[in-house]
Amino acid sequence: MRNLLCFFGLILLAVLLHQFLPWYAIVIAGLLFGAFAPLSSAGEAFAYGLLAGAIVWGGYSGILNYQNESILATRIGNMFGGLSAWSMVIITALLGGIYGGLGSLVGFWGRQLFGQGHTELEDFIQGIPKAELHLHIEGSFEPELMFEIAKRNNITLDYDSIESLKKAYKFNNLQEFLDIYYTGAQVLIHEQDFFDLTWAYLTKVHSQNVVHVEVFFDPQTHTDRSVAFDVVINGIHKALEKAKAELGISYKLIMSYLRHLSEEAAFETLESSLPFKDWIDGVGLDSSEMGNPPSKFAKVFKASASHGYKLVAHAGEEGPAEYIWEALDLLKVVRIDHGNRCLDDEALVQRIVEQKIPLTLCPLSNVELKVIQKMEEHPVAEMLEKGILATIHSDDPAYFGGYMNENYYETAKALNLTEDQLMQLAINAFEASWLSPEEKGKHIAQVKDYFHSSKYSQKQVV
Ligand code: ADE
Ligand code: ZN
Repeated sequence: MRNLLCFFGLILLAVLLHQFLPWYAIVIAGLLFGAFAPLSSAGEAFAYGLLAGAIVWGGYSGILNYQNESILATRIGNMFGGLSAWSMVIITALLGGIYGGLGSLVGFWGRQLFGQGHTELEDFIQGIPKAELHLHIEGSFEPELMFEIAKRNNITLDYDSIESLKKAYKFNNLQEFLDIYYTGAQVLIHEQDFFDLTWAYLTKVHSQNVVHVEVFFDPQTHTDRSVAFDVVINGIHKALEKAKAELGISYKLIMSYLRHLSEEAAFETLESSLPFKDWIDGVGLDSSEMGNPPSKFAKVFKASASHGYKLVAHAGEEGPAEYIWEALDLLKVVRIDHGNRCLDDEALVQRIVEQKIPLTLCPLSNVELKVIQKMEEHPVAEMLEKGILATIHSDDPAYFGGYMNENYYETAKALNLTEDQLMQLAINAFEASWLSPEEKGKHIAQVKDYFHSSKYSQKQVV
């Protein structure tokens, strides 16, 4: 629909420009159209440009010919050995079409080249009201901000430039990523650093129409470097409150225990958190999964629940389905982070479906950490099909190449998700959140409104 409006704009522009720039008006109009219309492919760009060029040039030369003024048509006609003026109108239309098509194609490619491209699907995803439930704040640390904070804290990074740091972001598994992730977090020292990190994430997702976030932080990554618990949480909390007041983003905060450390260390963290209990909604379990089963943390999860914390845990990302059973039965979590490996166990799937246990999936993370080999293999569509309350999130967006929109987009594109599946995913995220039933209802109604009133042209989104 939007493309169609742009198309009429293209014709109008070409006609207007034609007053000043005779023959290449259509090329310029095509360039502008290709660069700014929400086209989804080069083929589409060429087709629209071709059609517009043919209409404008054919129209012009037709009118001139009708008025017996077809100077161009006659001139070119003579070059072709005296073809009739009307056949020259057709040839002129074709020529105009080629000019328009090529102009639009170059505009489209130029936009892609400079990373400004927005397809219709991307625009559609942008408009969906979204909830982010699986996000490690330390994983949103963009290299640019990392260098800035390192500089003001007089810390020298192992990389001499942002580019060389980014080049290191190639991982064969979870551990290779965690090694870099923990190193990056070492530049965070002061409350202001934690504030800046969190604020940068919140403004970014605000621009992607994320309206609710449930954010993980890893206190031990900082307290083990002698950065006090209150420094960490004060900075994060201030940014979350500012976003609530100024951007209208609601939030929950989840303190995650590092599973490669001991349960005793997790107990110390729990103790440090208690003065800030009112700011923390739940506890989670993350870091190196293999060899660190949920059972290792059964006691500290029980103690955390006794202090009123809600419980979640990463399970079944790299680890086996058995770890998901443990997270449910021993830790008594209300949500599983990742949970991809549940598909290995039919009885587990049945349990997850029956008890409506949400799985917070992270597609780009799964590709980058080689949990799957390519996006086309992602299990989210299969999970929806089985009735699992699956949701989509970004995990560590600064490291995995995308925030919420990019995760939705890459998944939708690779799996050919339907509009209904996308709506289900967006609704599931609010359903799985820790918002009150009233707040959930309000957001879900807005999601439904968006999908029902949007002018998205196809039922099948890609
Ligand atoms: N910490 C940050 N990202 C993580 C992930 N994907 N899995 C486990 N721990 C993490
Ligand atoms: Zn995670």
